[in-house]
Amino acid sequence: MGPVIEQEKVVLVTGAANGIGAAVAELAITRSHRVVLSDVDEVAVLDRARSLGPRAAACVLDIRSSEGWARAFEAAEAAFGGVDVLVNNAGITHTGVARDLRPQQHRDIVEVNLLGTITGVCTALERMTAQGHGHIINVCSMTSFLPLPGYATYCATKYGLRAFHHSVAIEERNGPLDFTIIHPPSTRTGMLDQEMADPSCAISFAERSYAPQEIARAVVDAIVTKPVEVVFPPLAGRVQRVAGVFPRLMRRVIPIAEARGRRQRERLLPQPGTDR
Ligand SMILES: NC(=O)c1ccc[n+]([C@@H]2O[C@H](COP(=O)([O-])OP(=O)(O)OC[C@H]3O[C@@H](n4cnc5c(N)ncnc54)[C@H](O)[C@@H]3O)[C@@H](O)[C@H]2O)c1
Repeated sequence: MGPVIEQEKVVLVTGAANGIGAAVAELAITRSHRVVLSDVDEVAVLDRARSLGPRAAACVLDIRSSEGWARAFEAAEAAFGGVDVLVNNAGITHTGVARDLRPQQHRDIVEVNLLGTITGVCTALERMTAQGHGHIINVCSMTSFLPLPGYATYCATKYGLRAFHHSVAIEERNGPLDFTIIHPPSTRTGMLDQEMADPSCAISFAERSYAPQEIARAVVDAIVTKPVEVVFPPLAGRVQRVAGVFPRLMRRVIPIAEARGRRQRERLLPQPGTDR
């Protein structure tokens, strides 16, 4: 493939104080875009934006809040004249098997990952359609293809987000907007550290994990190439996608992957007496 030709865009990134969102913001700026970093963590997002220089601006956004979304779009307009690309990245998990999570923890995951992201898409649909262009990139998860033990409600939100994303993209097929959905596998961020601390999430360690910068490359490339959907890794990701369709196959292979994940996790855990 030839070089990706960059045209400067204004990119609004959610959950940009840490992890994948921070890596997306940093790379987008390197590629000469301007970025509005948003996050629920005010101190962290201000710090992160400051460290990225004059092509970065910051705003506080809890993606669960409709008013917050309106303010974020207004902040982007004030800073850089409007939003060309929304990277809907913010997400959370609470680790543990479904029977152990409190009802409020199940609700939190749904309210952030699913309802918060839906609120962002709906805000962007209205504002981007009014301006006549825009690109919505949703950062979802490989768990949107495969139900996993230790991730019941998280997986449910990612399945739901993928369904919502493609439904809207089809509804809007004759409009001016572009839609991309990107599915990271295990990625070395604070979220994976949280999972490392809980043996019920062992399956996350069955395969190699990615650096957030690798996921960011796919997201920032997508600003130019506008793929419909990106899976990781490109080939094995497609196999996983198929496995999710056959529940009997799933029930056989997932416990095998989980056992491998447990062994890998044991190897990765800091050993007593070391500062790893
Ligand atoms: N890390 C992984 O292994 C992995 C794998 C697949 C998908 N993902 C997805 O990638 C996205 C980014 O995850 P990450 O690994 O970078 O996580 P992370 O925990 O490192 O960072 C998430 C960021 O989102 C922010 N955030 C949390 N709740 C928010 C809210 N209500 N409103 C706005 N911001 C909020 C946090 O403050 C944090 O800065 C998430 O949607 C996650 O589900 C992550």
